[in-house]
Order: sequence, then C-alpha cells, then structure tokens
Amino acid sequence: MSSVPAKLLQTLQQHHQHRLLACLQLLPPAQQMALSATLADVDFDLLQATWLSASQPADNHTSVDRAALAQAPSRVVRQPVSATDHQAWALARSIGEQAISAGTVAVITVAGGQGTRLGFEHPKGLFPIGPVTDRTLFQIFAEQVLARRRRHRADLPWCIMTSDATHEETVAFFQQHRYFGLTPDSLHFFRQGSLPALDAATGELLLSAPGQLALSPDGHGGLVTALARAGLLELLQAQGVQHLYYHQVDNPTAIVADPALLGFHIQQQSQATTCVVCKSSPTERMGVLVDLQGRTEIIEYSELTAEQAAGQDSNGQWIFWAGNTAIHVFDRQFLASFCEAGRELPLHIARKNVPCVDETGQPLPTATDGQPNAIKLERFIFDALPAATNTLIVEGDRQREFNPVKNKSGSDSADTCRAALSRIAAEWLHATGLPVDPQTRYELSPLVALDVAELVNHHQQGTLPAITRTTAGCIIATAP
Ligand code: UD1
Repeated sequence: MSSVPAKLLQTLQQHHQHRLLACLQLLPPAQQMALSATLADVDFDLLQATWLSASQPADNHTSVDRAALAQAPSRVVRQPVSATDHQAWALARSIGEQAISAGTVAVITVAGGQGTRLGFEHPKGLFPIGPVTDRTLFQIFAEQVLARRRRHRADLPWCIMTSDATHEETVAFFQQHRYFGLTPDSLHFFRQGSLPALDAATGELLLSAPGQLALSPDGHGGLVTALARAGLLELLQAQGVQHLYYHQVDNPTAIVADPALLGFHIQQQSQATTCVVCKSSPTERMGVLVDLQGRTEIIEYSELTAEQAAGQDSNGQWIFWAGNTAIHVFDRQFLASFCEAGRELPLHIARKNVPCVDETGQPLPTATDGQPNAIKLERFIFDALPAATNTLIVEGDRQREFNPVKNKSGSDSADTCRAALSRIAAEWLHATGLPVDPQTRYELSPLVALDVAELVNHHQQGTLPAITRTTAGCIIATAP
C-alpha cells in the first residue's frame, strides 16, 4: 500500500471501511494513487454520522415535528386582483427590468438530472417538448434568454449546472446547435459534484468497480460549491451581478429572469425569494413553503403524511398550500456567504438499489430481503432559505408558469406540458384578435414574444412573423 498516505489508511480503519482497505490492497500503485486522491476529499465523519442517523429505528420524529410546528406562510405577495395590486406588480416588473438592463441579473438553470423518469436516457434538457416542432427544453430556455438579452440590451449571463452524467452531452448539444444564437462567452456550463453511495447495512462506501466509488450527483444543493469551484461566483461578482434567477430544467413555462419576481425581490431586499403556486390537491408532489419558528422553510412532499398534507388552519384554509415551483431568486452574496463560511447544506438520504461490486469486482446484490442495498445522499438548494435574514414568497400564475414535465404519463407528463405550451400560445394569439382553432396545436417561439403584450404589439405593428401551418399544428417562430 506504498502509494496510500498513512493518514488515509488510519481514517479508513477508524471508520471501518474494510472493503475500501481490501480494495486498495489489491490495486496496482497507479490506481491506488487515483483512489486515494478521490478519498482525500471524502468527509468520513459526516458520512458516518449520516449513516448512523439513517439507521436509527424507523420513526420520523424530525419531519413530523417540523410539520406539526409549521404554519402557512404569513408574508406572501399574492397574484394581483385589485387595481392597487396591479400597480404594485407593474412597479415590481419595472424594477426587475431595470435590474436586467443594468446587468445585475444572471440566470441559473439546474440541469444535472437525466430524463430517466420519462424513459429518456439523456440529459433532461434535450427532451423534445415543443407541441408542434419538438423543440427541446434547452432550446426554449435558450430562446427565452436570447429574447431577454435583446429586449433589455443586457448580457444576462446564463449558467447551466450539469452533472457527470449530463455534462459532455449537454455541451455537445449546444455546440451542435451553435448555442441557439447565444454568444458562448456569456454561457457557462459548470458541473455539480457527486457524493458516494453508502452500504445501507454497514455504512461502508460502495464500489461501482474495483478502485471506483459508486457516486451520484450531490443534488441541486451542490450548486453553491459547484459555482464557487467553477470560479463563477467570482466572475459574476466582477461583472456586477447581484441577483441570481434560479429555475429547474423541467419546466419550460418558467419565465426566465422574470422581471416581476426580480422586482419584488429587489424592492423588499430579500436574500432568497421563491415563486409559489397553490397546490392543486394536498397530495400533489410539491414541496411547500411554510413559516417555521419565524423562518421560511420548505417541507418536502415526502415528509408529510396524507393527513398532515391536508391540514387546515382555524379559518379552514390549507396550511400547506404554497407549492414550491423551484423558481427562486437568490442574492449572489447570500449564496457566496455559504462558501466563505465553509458551511455545507444538510444531507438528505434516499434508500435506493445501487449496482456495486466487492473488492475483487464480483457483483453484490442490490437488495436484501427486498430492502435496497444503498443509501444515496443529496443536498437541496432550498435548505439555504432558513439561513436568510430576509426571505420573500411571491405567488405565480400557475397556468402560465408552472407546467413541468416529470412523469411518463398522467399529471406533469410530456402530454400535459405540451398541452400547456400550446394553450398559452393559443391564448396569446387570441388576444391579438387572430382566429384560433381549439382543435389545433400551437407553438410560439420565445424569440417572437416573451409575453402576450409583445405578441399583440407585433400584430398591431405588422411585425408578426407568418404563421406556418403543418399537419402537426401551427408554428409562430423566427430565426435567431
Ligand atoms: C422538486 C422539488 C419540489 C418542487 C418540485 C417542483 C426537490 C427535492 N423537490 O421536486 O419541492 O415542488 O421540484 O417541480 O427538489 N437536479 C439537478 N441535480 C441533482 C438533482 C436534481 O440538477 O443532483 C435538477 C433536475 O435536473 C431537475 C430538478 O433539479 O430539474 C428537480 O429535481 P427532482 O428530483 O426531479 O425534484 P422533484 O421531485 O420534481
């Protein structure tokens, strides 16, 4: 074991990592060195503590207590109803637009996931979702970014977080499509980190092959470290960026760099702002924003029992109504402060079947008595919320901006998402006064219009591109 530092050997022994020790023993020196370098970055104390707490007898005291203490969020900017509300939203929108024009906003898209749940073994951003042309999720976001850059004459840097599983294919896809007309120097691909899977029975790190740890992406909470590691926190600071608009790759109707959301965030000096929508039913699989002992927190849907999820306050209102769209605005400095303080977001565990081998390369069972063999670990970005001294919740328009694609069929599927994109395009066209056929599918490129007002304006000015009719439906698009 000449290539393995003595300190590492001691750490492995202290933490009962027998399989790793046996594996190192069998490896040739070059591989010993490579594995030792990987292991040097592993926080064995943290992993052991996490495994120990996960192995406690099955009760979920912590989450039950959190749910029992939670109240519906008290400070929410609701959707506008009155004339005064509309004025407040218009003001927020104009503040947000000024911030984009001034170059103080950047966009972050978390795209580390694959489309596995959709039966699509590629980065999820490559998923075809356009209702008529099969435009990909990435193309829709790219066109939104390009349209905003043009409208506000701003750089609007776009940072796309990938993972080991999605990085190469994502970058190649953008190259192949000439970055959809964006200038590559304000487009930043950065890779999230990974975390080792643990043997559920022993807490030992699992091996995917001799000398290789079984690793998985560290969750969207890996964002902060990944931004810092890629030098992007510094770069954005140097460029004068203060506000980070954050969204997930799975929702093509997210309003990228939403001026109203940004405006409220800036106006109320929030460090972390979240766009929520009213859950469609208590059991809908959305995290919920709550007030918890004076702090804003998110309780994940998996933490609530069906009974808790349907809980009402004394006025008969749902406590857990404020569904997390996973659209946030973060103050850049607030996120940077996590790195500066060396603070990590907490680890969450998931029991999964993970293919793995013993030290000689023999496959090990992925389940015992029906129980998954592994504990996978990840961090959630919204665990940063309780650390903020000032947070804000803004209610979005669910029909307009929350239509994610998550499942192969049923709710939040490609079908529901395509139908939503077509419905929005048809509504906007209808607003121009042009005839709309309810049986026809419509697809509108963000390069033509980012909102209904822009489309109406095009129509009035005679600058609306010709509508192309195909057997699949109507397309209103323009070249970048
Ligand atoms: C997520 C939120 C939930 C919210 C819902 C809204 C979590 C834990 N929960 O649920 O509160 O109501 O979205 O749609 O996030 N991702 C990465 N790297 C990773 C893991 C995920 O980039 O390591 C990205 C994925 O590409 C995906 C997004 O994060 O776009 C969401 O992850 P997913 O696990 O699908 O979360 P949901 O269960 O849908």
